[in-house]
Amino acid sequence: MRKYSKAVIGVPPRFRGVTLETFDWKENAGVLSAVERFERRELQLLGLYGRPGVGKTHIAISLYRESIYGAISNALFLEVSELFNMVKSGYGENRNVLEELRVYPLLIIDDLMSGNCSATDMEIIAEIIKERYISKKQLLVTTNLLPNELERALGYHELSRLFGMGSWVEVKGEDRRMDV
Ligand SMILES: Nc1ncnc2c1ncn2[C@@H]1O[C@H](COP(=O)(O)OP(=O)(O)OP(=O)(O)O)[C@@H](O)[C@H]1O
Ligand SMILES: [Mg+2]
Repeated sequence: MRKYSKAVIGVPPRFRGVTLETFDWKENAGVLSAVERFERRELQLLGLYGRPGVGKTHIAISLYRESIYGAISNALFLEVSELFNMVKSGYGENRNVLEELRVYPLLIIDDLMSGNCSATDMEIIAEIIKERYISKKQLLVTTNLLPNELERALGYHELSRLFGMGSWVEVKGEDRRMDV
C-alpha cells in the first residue's frame, strides 16, 4: 500500500507544485536539452548555475519528484547545509552518512558553496564528488557561483572532476521571486 503520494515526500512546501512542465523554458532551451540528457542517464553530472531566482531549485526539485515512486525514491535531495549537518551529526552517532548516501542512484545538492564553508565542509564535498565519480552514480548540483568562482571555492582538483563528469549549464532569466 502506498503511504505517501508522489507530491509529498521530501519536497519543501514551497516547491510542492513544481514540475518540469510548469517551468518556462523560453530562455533556457539549452538547459532543457541538458536536463533531458541527464534524465536519459547520458550525463553523470548536471551542474546548474545562475543568478538567484532563475529556477535552479525548481528544476532540481522537478527531477527529484520524477524519481519518486510511491514511497520510494531513487534520489536524495539535500540543500547543502542539510547535507553538512547530516554528515556531521553522523560523526557523533558513529554513522558514516557518506556511505549511506552511496546507495542513491541520484544525489541532488542544492546551493553548493552558499555561505561560508569550513575545511570540514570542503572535505565532505570533495569526498562526495570522489564517491559519485568512482561509483558512476548521478549528481545534480545547483549553485549561484560562476564556474570560475566555483573553481576558486572548491580547488582545481575537485572541480576538474566535477566538470569531467558531465555538463555545466547556465540557467538564464529574470529573478522570478520578484513576480510573487
Ligand atoms: N523559468 C521559470 N518558469 C517557471 N517558474 C520559475 C522559472 N524560474 C523561476 N521560477 C519560479 O521562481 C521561484 C524562484 O525559483 P528558484 O527558487 O528555483 O530559483 P533559484 O535559481 O534556485 O534561486 P536561488 O539561487 O536563490 O536558490 C520559484 O517559485 C520557481 O518556481
Ligand atoms: Mg535555489
